Amino acid sequence: MRLERGTFGGRFAMVMAMAGSAVGLGNIWRFPYMVGENGGAAFILVYVVCCLLVSLPIFFCEAIIGKSQRANTCYLSIVSSFIILSFYSVVGGWSVDYLLRSLSGGFQGQSMEQAREMFAGISASMVENISCMLVFLGLTALIVVAGVEKGIGLFSKVSIPVLFIMMLLLAFNSSSLEGAKKGIEYLIKPDFSSLSGKAVAAALGQSFFSLSLGVGSILTYASYMKEEESVTFAGGWTVFFDTVFAIVSGFAIMPAVFAAGIEPGAGPSLVFETLPVIFSGMGWIVPIVFFLVILIAALSSSISLLEVVVSFLVDEKHLSRGRAVMDVFLLAAILGGACAVFPRLFGICDFVTSNVLMMLGALAFCLAVGWKMPREEVLSYIRSPFLYKIIRYAIPVMIIIIALIPFFDC
Ligand code: PHE
Repeated sequence: MRLERGTFGGRFAMVMAMAGSAVGLGNIWRFPYMVGENGGAAFILVYVVCCLLVSLPIFFCEAIIGKSQRANTCYLSIVSSFIILSFYSVVGGWSVDYLLRSLSGGFQGQSMEQAREMFAGISASMVENISCMLVFLGLTALIVVAGVEKGIGLFSKVSIPVLFIMMLLLAFNSSSLEGAKKGIEYLIKPDFSSLSGKAVAAALGQSFFSLSLGVGSILTYASYMKEEESVTFAGGWTVFFDTVFAIVSGFAIMPAVFAAGIEPGAGPSLVFETLPVIFSGMGWIVPIVFFLVILIAALSSSISLLEVVVSFLVDEKHLSRGRAVMDVFLLAAILGGACAVFPRLFGICDFVTSNVLMMLGALAFCLAVGWKMPREEVLSYIRSPFLYKIIRYAIPVMIIIIALIPFFDC
């Protein structure tokens, strides 16, 4: 059934909303430390190939389903996007916290040791952690409640270009530091000897997460596309923006890390422990811009996660938009609160969604397009019989292989 649905209010807003969903903590927080842990430029190269060969066709599948049905997604996606929204809000909350701290000059003159202690203190403080998470979730709810065009579309078309400009400025700033050359080399000189099977799987998993695949965000957004807007256009630009943004964040972060003489493989703590100290050494404005970038990037993704569940409740349970947003806000606050207090639960939610639910979702979307939808209909969207074959045969097999790799040691 093709329902009457809202739209983003224009092609630019539509592409910015999709790019906004894709560009997020995955690019700024996860990508640089994965590059650091998996050997620099070689990993980036594999990552780009994964995006183009595997993730882009999956993107097309999700978008084709959304656009053709003009409807919300399946139950599996509702569960995965709800779980991601909850633990994502904890990290979003840290970005609110760090933005406020940088506005009051909180990192000025801090040593690495003090920064580490500060982050440990924040993660251990229930009140601070939960209240910042609630602020983040509240901001997400405010944008979504304003609607697809006046909330999500407007927010995306204004904030995503600003986000790109701010990240570019940070990258120029870092690359011009003394001692930055080693960091730049690290990002452009591939070292294939450090590439393991696990690194390839990590690159693929990261490209899924980064492009928001398998949880219905792209499907739901595509259901708001206008008839004349093209799925391949949206997919191509989203992959382009997301990849460029991830690489630019690498250039904002790695040269600064090397210039400060720090190990690039610092892991997830890089953004919240190492960088505040490095950036605050460059003047008060740099950390403010950096945490503002993280906050906007995180918000543009979390709204796409909330929208998945809200759109389902509005269509299927006939709730008003306001009521649906309120209900999901409360439920996500509970699970997010639990994730903020129990780091193990946070880890489990992250692992189960990225390694299991997203893969299952992506597989389901591919099989639906490759095997359930009439061939002619699919071709009317992608116009390439070769790509159709890839979607039908190669991608499902690849998803299964990728999904199994983390469970074996290779
Ligand atoms: N793509 C987002 C990021 O890179 C995360 C996300 C995953 C958002 C799934 C929506 C759906 O941070």
